[in-house]
Amino acid sequence: MNYYLGIDIGTSGTKVLLIDETGLPVATATHEYPLSTPRPLWAEQEPADWWAAVVAGVQDVLRTSKVASAAIGGIGLSGQMHGSVFLDADNQVIRPALLWCDQRTQAQCDWLTAEVGIDNLVEYISNPVLTGFTAPKIIWLRENEPDAYRRVAKVLLPKDYIRLKLTGEFATEVSDASGTALFDVRNRRWSREVLAAAKIPYEWMADCAESAEVTASVSSAAAALTGLTAGTPVVGGGGDQAAGAVGAGVVETGIVSSTIGTSGVVFAYADAPATDPKLRIHTFCHAVPGKWHVMGVHLSSGGSLRWLRDTLYAGESYDAINREAASSPVGSEGLIFLPYLTGERTPYPDPYARGSFFGLTLRHARGHFARSVMEGVSYSLRDSFEIFKELGVEIGQVRASGGGAKSPLWRQINADVMRAEHVTLSIDEGPALGVALLAAVGTGVYATVADACRAAIRVTDRVAPQSKNADVYDKFYPVYRGLYPALKESFRAVSRAVGEE
Ligand code: XUL
Repeated sequence: MNYYLGIDIGTSGTKVLLIDETGLPVATATHEYPLSTPRPLWAEQEPADWWAAVVAGVQDVLRTSKVASAAIGGIGLSGQMHGSVFLDADNQVIRPALLWCDQRTQAQCDWLTAEVGIDNLVEYISNPVLTGFTAPKIIWLRENEPDAYRRVAKVLLPKDYIRLKLTGEFATEVSDASGTALFDVRNRRWSREVLAAAKIPYEWMADCAESAEVTASVSSAAAALTGLTAGTPVVGGGGDQAAGAVGAGVVETGIVSSTIGTSGVVFAYADAPATDPKLRIHTFCHAVPGKWHVMGVHLSSGGSLRWLRDTLYAGESYDAINREAASSPVGSEGLIFLPYLTGERTPYPDPYARGSFFGLTLRHARGHFARSVMEGVSYSLRDSFEIFKELGVEIGQVRASGGGAKSPLWRQINADVMRAEHVTLSIDEGPALGVALLAAVGTGVYATVADACRAAIRVTDRVAPQSKNADVYDKFYPVYRGLYPALKESFRAVSRAVGEE
């Protein structure tokens, strides 16, 4: 029997997962690392920490599984998207990587958007230029750290830096490249137009493959460090969202995923590149060859509930929050939460947006706050669903995953707010599973990504929407929708007043 390895370079840690060729997990290991915020709105990590976590994780998995490394048929890489690893001509890291959640680059986004023109952006890259994306980070380096910028010879995404360490090769693949704001998503190649407008050399970008294609193989140096066998093929892999979607079987029309981790992501498969003319959602290449996906990203979903647990419920558990939320009325008697604790991306790309509770009265107790946080996050996810519907994207079944899907109450709230069945799956191993399956596809075990998903993933639980509750949420959702536009300028004023700008 052959085995496949999936490696996911996450924001809090790196997960290494070994599966057998039927998709069954055999061993897993996670190693964490810090995230530094040297200034408000900044978020950075040391690429060396990722590599150390990969080496330790692979060693752990080989040791605990007792699988001989020669039986590993292929490796897939996934990771946090959009990050920028700046390398010099000797492949040395020049400075810590700026991450997807770094919000320092609004001025650079405004400049590049003006330079290219919003209509041309739709045509060239199918997406807006957002603070989290890679292009504005490169421009920020040019404007703020010119000495470092002069040394740059390559810019890699986080998982592609790990590919370089593992194989000695520069390569990326279409799903992660889509999040750079430098990639022609329709034609699945780098956008020479936007690179030229941004004054970024084409040579700085790595060659781009499809996600299931073999890009390189493990080098002898990396084999000696990790215990892997030199020559083991490494496929393109995927950005964590596309890879997570493969890991949840979101590879066919009508299947949508809703993942509540720190952020909340709503993701749908698309046969053609459905672009939102208003650029409120992302249109990226899928990790399924020749296919696309649309995606809404909400920055503080599980993050909002964690904030609640650490503040109003300090010293208590998520169970306490769930209990009190469950005994509060549907709609929280008019208490509405806006989950913009770290700014927002979809549908409002605004680093200055802030969280808020609206509609507070003397009747409201702590349980109402708990329920309204869950409901507010669900309303924010519905914003993405509404845009999908406008674009004609089919929504049949919603596959719920991530920490948020563990709460039956939150799954029900999501099903009610979205008026769509939410199901959970037999296996919830996220992006690491997705790229391990891509490695099995790329090395010939399965003919298609959909075949690999069907072999590995089953639906185990279903939550249907309850129309009585959905009717209540339909009354509050328009109120929720009206709050951000009404508060936008006030958020900006608060941000200036506290010195964030
Ligand atoms: C996707 C995104 C996040 C990061 C980190 O666009 O920003 O999902 O990839 O997980």
